[in-house]
Amino acid sequence: MPDLSVQLLPGLTLKNPVVAASGTAGYGDEPSRLYDIADIGAFVCKGTTLKPRAGNPQPRIMETENGLLNAIGLQNPGVEYVVQHFAPIWEKWRTPVLVNIAGESIDDYFEIARRLDRVPGVAALEVNISCPNVAAGCLEFGATPEGAAAVTRAVKSATALPVIVKLTPNTSDIVALAQAVENAGADAVSLINTLRGMSIDIRKRKPVLGNVTGGLSGPAIKPVALAMVWRVAAGVKIPVIGGGGIATAEDALEFLLAGASAIEVGTAALVNPGALKDIVKGIEKYMLQWKLTEISQLIGAARR
Ligand SMILES: Cc1cc2nc3c(=O)[nH]c(=O)nc-3n(C[C@H](O)[C@H](O)[C@H](O)COP(=O)(O)O)c2cc1C
Repeated sequence: MPDLSVQLLPGLTLKNPVVAASGTAGYGDEPSRLYDIADIGAFVCKGTTLKPRAGNPQPRIMETENGLLNAIGLQNPGVEYVVQHFAPIWEKWRTPVLVNIAGESIDDYFEIARRLDRVPGVAALEVNISCPNVAAGCLEFGATPEGAAAVTRAVKSATALPVIVKLTPNTSDIVALAQAVENAGADAVSLINTLRGMSIDIRKRKPVLGNVTGGLSGPAIKPVALAMVWRVAAGVKIPVIGGGGIATAEDALEFLLAGASAIEVGTAALVNPGALKDIVKGIEKYMLQWKLTEISQLIGAARR
């Protein structure tokens, strides 16, 4: 059988490159009733902040022709609850858990990272500087290289955990962002978060989402995400985790061939909770068919 394992970072090996994307699978309690988390490479929990957050006014989610608009606004129980209630559960899993963190200030990011440092069950941090749906912080830092680097430095100084910085597509030059966080000490980057979008109800003559704008995910964003992953993978030396609109093994293979070392799947799992497992199986089938023995033979192969 082909070996699907990926050594993403020193001390962080995934049994396969398929990762559950943040915000689409909560803290693992719900998906663990729908599929076996042991089948996937890694799990990223919901964006977690220092204090609990109630999130944005309803409606927070709507389907578009070819994707999903969401403006959840980082509803979460806060870092202390996560450390007390979820980390002890994750510690028993064989799948590493990456905690997605978000803050309203650089001090917030530092504090959350410090609180999660050395917590058993937490394998790495994914630093969300790309949420388009909160009024303060987060994307404010993530949209400029200087802001992105400042958050990265703060988080790195607060923890010995591997730090993966999640980049926004809502910027003029995502490669410059990736390079800035690499220079600031990020161990890896993940991309892309959602693209800012909106919808208007023409009968009510009002925006559909309570937050007015939201983030677009799902199949509609795949070509945009793939081009960004392609460009970022050429621009940095650290590993790239790619995602945005991945729904099938074929989609995932495109991202691996573009240079992603692992891939994140979000919206597709809301439609089909078995999507991640199907993608793992599909990658394995492709490798058998093409007589590939290791994932490294796929990563970046379209560039060679
Ligand atoms: C309902 C919803 C909630 C999300 N919440 C978060 C979050 O808390 N933190 C984060 O970094 N990304 C969040 N995302 C973005 C996803 O993790 C992912 O980057 C994005 O949706 C693109 O991938 P996809 O097309 O496979 O969903 C969220 C996406 C959705 C649809």
